[in-house]
Amino acid sequence: MAKLLVLNGPNLNLLGNRETDLYGSSTLNEIIASMEKQAHDMQHELQHIQDNAEVGLIDAIHQAKHNNVQIIIFNPAAFTHTSIALRDALLAVAIPFIEVHLSNIDQRESFRKNSFFSDIAMGVISGFGPQSYQLAMQAAIAHLFQQ
Ligand code: DQA
Repeated sequence: MAKLLVLNGPNLNLLGNRETDLYGSSTLNEIIASMEKQAHDMQHELQHIQDNAEVGLIDAIHQAKHNNVQIIIFNPAAFTHTSIALRDALLAVAIPFIEVHLSNIDQRESFRKNSFFSDIAMGVISGFGPQSYQLAMQAAIAHLFQQ
């Protein structure tokens, strides 16, 4: 049994209402419920934190080290394109993480093409809507199985 953390950045609490053409109609609660089922089916423990502020996300990453979290599934949302502080937090704790996006960030505005996380992530899943999270969970479970 392992501990996994799903971490969601700003505005993702609005999923289900927010730009549904881009992000789909599932709410964050629905997405997390489906990931909890995936985790629990494999006897893993899943924690979820959504925060609209950079400081809350940084603190959650620090706390994950303290809690012995083994893998993080992270959608940094708009901080993907701006936050060296979150990148440094992930480097500091050295917990493997998977970067997730609902939309395909490479098909959107040019400012979304840069990610401060992709080069230090285990991998990136982008563009499959809410299913991106389920695919990330599958990858996380497979990684834990190989440990
Ligand atoms: C996002 C993509 C980001 O560019 C955007 O700022 C988001 C959501 C996604 O999941 O597609 O808030 O991370």
